[in-house]
Parts: sequence; structure tokens; C-alpha cells
Amino acid sequence: MRLAALLLIGALAAPAAGAVDAELLARGELVFAIGGCTNCHTAKDGPPLAGGEPLRTPFGTFHPPNITPDPETGLGRWTEADFIRAMRDGRAPDGSPYYPSFPYTSYTRMTDEDLVALKAYLDTVEPVRRTTPPHELGFPYNQRWGIRLWQALFFTAERFVPDPARDAVWNRGAYLVLGPGHCGECHTPRNSLGVLDESRAFAGGDLGGPTGKVPNITTDPERGLGRWSEGDYRTVLTLGMLPNGDFVGGEMGKIVANGTSRLPPDDLAAIVAYLKSLPPR
Ligand code: HEC
Ligand code: HEC
Repeated sequence: MRLAALLLIGALAAPAAGAVDAELLARGELVFAIGGCTNCHTAKDGPPLAGGEPLRTPFGTFHPPNITPDPETGLGRWTEADFIRAMRDGRAPDGSPYYPSFPYTSYTRMTDEDLVALKAYLDTVEPVRRTTPPHELGFPYNQRWGIRLWQALFFTAERFVPDPARDAVWNRGAYLVLGPGHCGECHTPRNSLGVLDESRAFAGGDLGGPTGKVPNITTDPERGLGRWSEGDYRTVLTLGMLPNGDFVGGEMGKIVANGTSRLPPDDLAAIVAYLKSLPPR
């Protein structure tokens, strides 16, 4: 009798636990989308997240590593705490600092809940054994201690702090844009040390090379999007189509295809509300 009761409790508990997992994974998948992880960590025609295309920067060429759950060449042996530390503090499990070409400078603002869900989702990706080639950086950028100094000077691990003067929709949009969405990493200009110039936030960046200019997305009517309707923002973030009928390409094409076009309508509306509030610059 008691055994039967226990079995019954077990049977009732099991689907409930499964439902929680499904919820966690669904959340993780959304965080993964807006985080744009695949844009850097998956190579053209390569297996998902097994290492990305070379990332060319003014400091040299980075090879975004394999972040599949392979235990030898990926994150298979990482704990949740290792993962959270990488995303929030920009530190490897052995304590060494990461280059900010990995945009932890934005991911640091993510909530624990989102990071836990993201790790759970990443754990479900097919493990792939593939060793990442070393970065190709000139002196002094090839010295990881230099990054320790860079972090000490220019980086503070932080959390997103909601603005109590704004409503929940605006705060959700600010979180998505400034945290997982890492929009400022491309749309905000940097100085020669690669530090974002927050006094000119979203006034337009430069990814390097002849085609690397990134547009101003503040509400300045001349330089930015001040003349855009809410529908214009929605159309570019869901379909990639600009008000003049052109489609965004390159890096922004990936942000739309893998990220903003997959968001639920509430999150999209939140991003638009936040962007429409950016002061003109
Ligand atoms: C703009 C490109 C870019 C994006 C977007 C990006 N990464 Fe990375 N990531 C990198 C680079 C480059 C490194 C290597 C940094 C280094 O070696 O210091 C890296 C390193 C990592 C590491 C450390 C891996 C290791 O073996 O030590 C983890 C974990 C990671 N990224 C996870 C993510 C996740 C999760 C996302 C999405 C939320 C993401 N990354 C988005 C470029 C990117
Ligand atoms: C990896 C770099 C990168 C990231 C991250 C990025 N963008 Fe972009 N964005 C671009 C580039 C480059 C363009 C220009 C694309 C084109 O015209 O083909 C662009 C264009 C745009 C445009 C159209 C502006 C115009 O005047 O044409 C909007 C709006 C926009 N981005 C919003 C966002 C938002 C919101 C995010 C974050 C969710 C984001 N971007 C993240 C690189 C990026």
C-alpha cells in the first residue's frame, strides 16, 4: 500500500519536473537567441557552436571557441558557477581573464535566472570535438595579463538595475538591449583602447574595414532614427527591412535572423520602447 502510494507520488511528480525543465529550456533558448551566441560561435556551414568564423579586430584576429558540451574541447566539464563567472566576470574557470571581443562587458548585466537557463539550454546542444585555434594577436595584445589590466581599468562586473522612474516595459527593453542583446557593443563608438564611449551611447560604431560603419540608432532626426515610427522599428527587427525597402545585411542580418525576429511580441515591444527613448546624439 505504502509502496503504491510512493509510486503514485513518483508518477505525479515526474511530469511536473519535466514541465519545469521544458520551461527552463524554453527560456534558455530565448536568452540564447537574443544573446546572439551563434553569430560568433558557429562557423559558416559548421556544426552549431563548435567554434566561429575568425573575428577580425584592430587588435588582431580572434577565434571564438567551441562552446558545445564536449568535455575535452568545449564546456562539458564546466559547472554552472564556471559559466556564470565567464559571462558576468569575464574570467575562465582557471581565473584568467577573457578578451572583451567576447562581449561579457554587456552580458555581465544578465540576471542569474537567465544565465542558469542559458547554461541549461547550451547543455542540450550536440557536443562536438573540435579544438579552437589560438588567437592571432600582435604584441602586446597577445599578453593575457594585459587584459587583467584592461579589466581593472575599464570593466566592472555589474547587474542590470531597473530604473524605478520608468515602467516595466521600458525596463525590460533596457535589460534586453544593454544585457543579453549587447546592441551597444556595435552601435556605440569605442576609443583606441576598445572602451565604449558611453557619453555617445548608440551614436554609431565602427567594426573596422571599409564596410564596418554601424549606424546611429539614437532618436536624432538627422543622424539617427528620430523620424522612424514604431512600425519602422518593428519591421527592421522582425523582417530586417528598412523604411526605404532595403534589407539590413552582415552582422545586423544575423542579429535579426537569429535574435530579434525570434522574440515574443512583448519583448520586441519592450526593445522598441527603449530605443524610442534613447536621447538624440
Ligand atoms: C561578438 C562575438 C561573440 C559573441 C556574440 C559571443 N561570444 Fe562567446 N566568445 C567570443 C570570443 C572571441 C571568445 C574568446 C575570448 C578569449 O579567448 O579571451 C569567447 C569566449 C566564450 C566563452 C569562454 C569559452 C572557453 O573555452 O573559455 C564562453 C563560455 C562563451 N564565449 C559563451 C558565449 C555565450 C553563451 C554567448 C551568447 C550569450 C556568447 N559567448 C556570445 C566571442 C563572442
Ligand atoms: C555585431 C554588431 C551589431 C550588433 C550586436 C547589433 N547591431 Fe544593429 N546594426 C549593425 C550594423 C552593421 C547595421 C547596419 C546594417 C546594414 O545597413 O546592412 C545595423 C543596423 C541596425 C538598425 C538599422 C539602423 C539604420 O539606420 O539602418 C537598427 C534599428 C539596429 N541595428 C538595432 C539594433 C539592436 C536593437 C540591436 C540589439 C538587439 C543591434 N542592432 C545589435 C550591427 C550590429
